[in-house]
Amino acid sequence: MRNVVAGNWKSNKLLHEAREWMAVMEGWLQNNRGVDVMVAMPAPYLAACATDAPLGLHVLAQNVSAESFGAHTGEFTADMLKSSGVSGAIVGHSERRSRFGDSDSVVAAKVDALMAADLTAVFCCGETLQQRESGRAEDIVLKQLQAGILRIPVDQITQIIVAYEPVWAIGTGVTATSDEAQEMHASIRGWLSEAFGAEVAARIPLLYGGSCNPSNASELFAQKDINGGLIGGASLDPKSFQSVIQGHPALNS
Ligand code: PGA
Repeated sequence: MRNVVAGNWKSNKLLHEAREWMAVMEGWLQNNRGVDVMVAMPAPYLAACATDAPLGLHVLAQNVSAESFGAHTGEFTADMLKSSGVSGAIVGHSERRSRFGDSDSVVAAKVDALMAADLTAVFCCGETLQQRESGRAEDIVLKQLQAGILRIPVDQITQIIVAYEPVWAIGTGVTATSDEAQEMHASIRGWLSEAFGAEVAARIPLLYGGSCNPSNASELFAQKDINGGLIGGASLDPKSFQSVIQGHPALNS
């Protein structure tokens, strides 16, 4: 099973700050064994930073086009990411689902585009507070997974990382409790097992995201079905991101 901690800067930092962040990470990464470290940067910095990234840091995009080459002004394709040295992209983040029209079918097309280019997809899913309070959290997450990844050929599933991010926990300072997170992760693992078999499902990294920070990371990452995290606010400062990664049991065993 792969352990992964990925940062998501969203629309933050200037290019020189991105470079400074990587410089602080460089020495630290040399002593990190056991956790794959990734960071999803703003699109304008991808080519430059993917080329200069220190060993052990995988650079991701925060988005990708569902289209391939053609007349799609403003879009960037999975092949473009690949040719820039980018490892993959986040797809289905709730901010894109709710504000930029990324429906289940658009997200599915983006997953397919990444798979075709042999890139990693960090597939985000998660329910709103209202959906959780009305007892529909599992139905919502299952529906997102069915549309996005449970349908893909088993030989492509190794390119998928799943991030469970309850919408009510993203950027709010309210984290899911480790029990709440583990419960949903166990369900996700179960659905992945039904679709791809238990052995394959056991190797798919399941990340928790939503106000994960240095003080709650170790408890979350200690849960059986939580293999790491997708970290927004706490990834902006490299020291705080390092503390989050340090909370992973793979680094402390
Ligand atoms: P947060 O964001 O850690 O700032 O809550 C997580 C995410 O949106 O991926």
